[in-house]
Amino acid sequence: MSSAGGLGFLAAGYKTADSMGAEIKAVRDLTDAPFGVNLFVPQPPIIRPDVLEQYAHSLASDASRLQVTLGDPRHDDDDWQNKLDVLYELAPAVVSFTFDVPEAGIITALQERGVSVTVTVTSRAEAKLAMAAGADMLCVQGPEAGGHRGTFDPTAPAGVTPLHVLLNDLSSLEIPLIAAGGIVTGADTRAALSRGAVAVQAGTAFLRADEAGTGAVHRAALSSGQFTTTAVTKAFSGRYARGLYNDFMRQHDPEAPFGYPEIHHLTRPLRAAAAGAGDSHRVNLWAGTGFNRSMVGSARSILARLAT
Ligand SMILES: Cc1cc2nc3c(=O)[nH]c(=O)nc-3n(C[C@H](O)[C@H](O)[C@H](O)COP(=O)(O)O)c2cc1C
Repeated sequence: MSSAGGLGFLAAGYKTADSMGAEIKAVRDLTDAPFGVNLFVPQPPIIRPDVLEQYAHSLASDASRLQVTLGDPRHDDDDWQNKLDVLYELAPAVVSFTFDVPEAGIITALQERGVSVTVTVTSRAEAKLAMAAGADMLCVQGPEAGGHRGTFDPTAPAGVTPLHVLLNDLSSLEIPLIAAGGIVTGADTRAALSRGAVAVQAGTAFLRADEAGTGAVHRAALSSGQFTTTAVTKAFSGRYARGLYNDFMRQHDPEAPFGYPEIHHLTRPLRAAAAGAGDSHRVNLWAGTGFNRSMVGSARSILARLAT
């Protein structure tokens, strides 16, 4: 992405600080172009053990069907401090945060090392908090977006205010806005720029790119025509995320509690086994509302079409 003139991002979520550092170095071996690294801000524990146990119980038949044991539903901070230490040392061009705004001291420490800091926001209130903490840019994520919602309060309603309304609302703020959610064509890019964004951030548009790490089951599901819609669910991870609407979401979303990352860890072996077995109905297929307009081809060619 970066060699093609975009700003490529490494996802650091669910990785150790060491593997994140190794990925940063590997990218630097491939390109001199700037790139970003994205971190999940740690979440406070909110789920009660009995609620967790009850949800595990309701997943038992899926687990036995796939012949796996559910994961240990632990709470963790995703190696937060170690990752920050690596980022202070390796100083990529941009670090972006999602799920919350980090302490102002962390943002300042990155900026002192020449790093630009982005915070993902989904509302005006979150934008104000991110600005108060000193963010350089905001990623304004609309509800159309694939993957996890960046909402600071993980239990807040999923939100339905479309991206373009959010952009209109935030465009008066004195900070550069990056628009995210449902951007899969050049026309989508133009619409976001005309509403005050300085750039767009796209995930779903690149899921079928030649270079994408999208798993085989996920890739096939995006183009098979078997899935016609997406929905927001907490059934896979305990936090709202948008993906192709499959049986797991249909069956478990109504009973699924909030509890990230415990539920992410609980369902992880189940999802891995489903992916291995080609079972597209028991794995999270993250995708935004624009998935059926996403393109195939090289990342460079998709970027060119988004920018045209
Ligand atoms: C498969 C997938 C994985 C994602 N992983 C992350 C992530 O690790 N961190 C993050 O901040 N956003 C992540 N996102 C969300 C994107 O940053 C962005 O908000 C979203 O893709 C924009 O909407 P779009 O999918 O409609 O382009 C992910 C999105 C998808 C589709």
